[in-house]
Amino acid sequence: MNIKITQTDQSRISELDFNNLEFGRVFSDHMFEMVYRDGEWVEAEIKPYGPITFDPSLMALHYGQAIFEGMKAYYADEDTIHLFRPTDHHKRLNNSAKRLCMPEIEESVFMEALEKLLQLDYKWVPETHGHSLYIRPFMFASEEYIAATVSKEYRFYIITSPVAAYYKEGFNPVSLTTSDEYVRAAKGGTGEAKSAGNYGGSFLPARKAQQEGFTQVLWLDAKEHKYVEEVGTMNIFFLIGDTLITPQLAGTVLPGVTRRSVISLAKDWNLNVEERRISIDEVFEAHKNGSLKEIFGAGTAAVISPVGLIHHKGETVTLDREKIGPFAKKMFDAITGIQYGNIEDTHGWIHPVQISTAVLY
Ligand SMILES: Cc1ncc(COP(=O)(O)O)c(C=O)c1O
Repeated sequence: MNIKITQTDQSRISELDFNNLEFGRVFSDHMFEMVYRDGEWVEAEIKPYGPITFDPSLMALHYGQAIFEGMKAYYADEDTIHLFRPTDHHKRLNNSAKRLCMPEIEESVFMEALEKLLQLDYKWVPETHGHSLYIRPFMFASEEYIAATVSKEYRFYIITSPVAAYYKEGFNPVSLTTSDEYVRAAKGGTGEAKSAGNYGGSFLPARKAQQEGFTQVLWLDAKEHKYVEEVGTMNIFFLIGDTLITPQLAGTVLPGVTRRSVISLAKDWNLNVEERRISIDEVFEAHKNGSLKEIFGAGTAAVISPVGLIHHKGETVTLDREKIGPFAKKMFDAITGIQYGNIEDTHGWIHPVQISTAVLY
């Protein structure tokens, strides 16, 4: 695909305070944009980051055909940036697109757009270990038409944002509560797609959980309110005895890229890993009989997030609320070590992007 490149003549990089990065507030100089019209993707372009204009009848605003991805680029050395499992994110984007009746994107186009954008904005990838460039690809229905039907036009963008380490002063275990009132996803719904509406629907229960003093909701299944599913933007893992257990992917849970990485590494380390239904009662029972060793979430933002407390129907499971467990820490060190290139990548998860001097400002 021919990507037209228009470079900014006014880089904003000098305004950026790399020591005070707020997640998702500042965006790098350029963005990728592509238009879907008459059954094909056309007009691929990298241009200065800036506003986009639409009529109020933009279909995405009314009928919710909007999907996105979240991934990161890591500074490896002055010539190299590492993308972590970008083709897995691409596959998930296409799966989300299929579920929402939206057009897919070819892997080669997705990768070329990412590489060219990073080569242009490589200075925005923070060099400090733990910091990274968050990458947000997203697609939405762009036909201007008020009718509850499938849009004929779409836009696809990639924007990027430099972000600080998730844990600046040591790990901070999160506290979770189940909800007996709300669910995130039901079988047959859009739970396994990364669609914008899934997040909009989760905000009210999350706000209620926060008002009660918890960090986030631990979602249970929609039918029986019995089986654990996932957390706000993380998949969940339980280390019970010597077995690592995580809910199976059965249509309602987002198939996390970090989740897959955790499972692979745990298997490499000869740990018994089970992807299966796990009830909240089983978690509480394991806590009572002393076999529950660790609970942690896994997701792109934090990589590994220790869970210090789970509240369910007036009862609580409390683990060490001050620190991360040894297994979760080992997993965090292994994944981040691979991401920054300090640990050998034996799985082919790293996609290196070379900074070509030809495109420097
Ligand atoms: C609902 C939900 N579950 C799980 C995850 C973790 O997925 P990943 O590891 O691909 O970031 C995310 C984040 O994207 C999410 O939004």
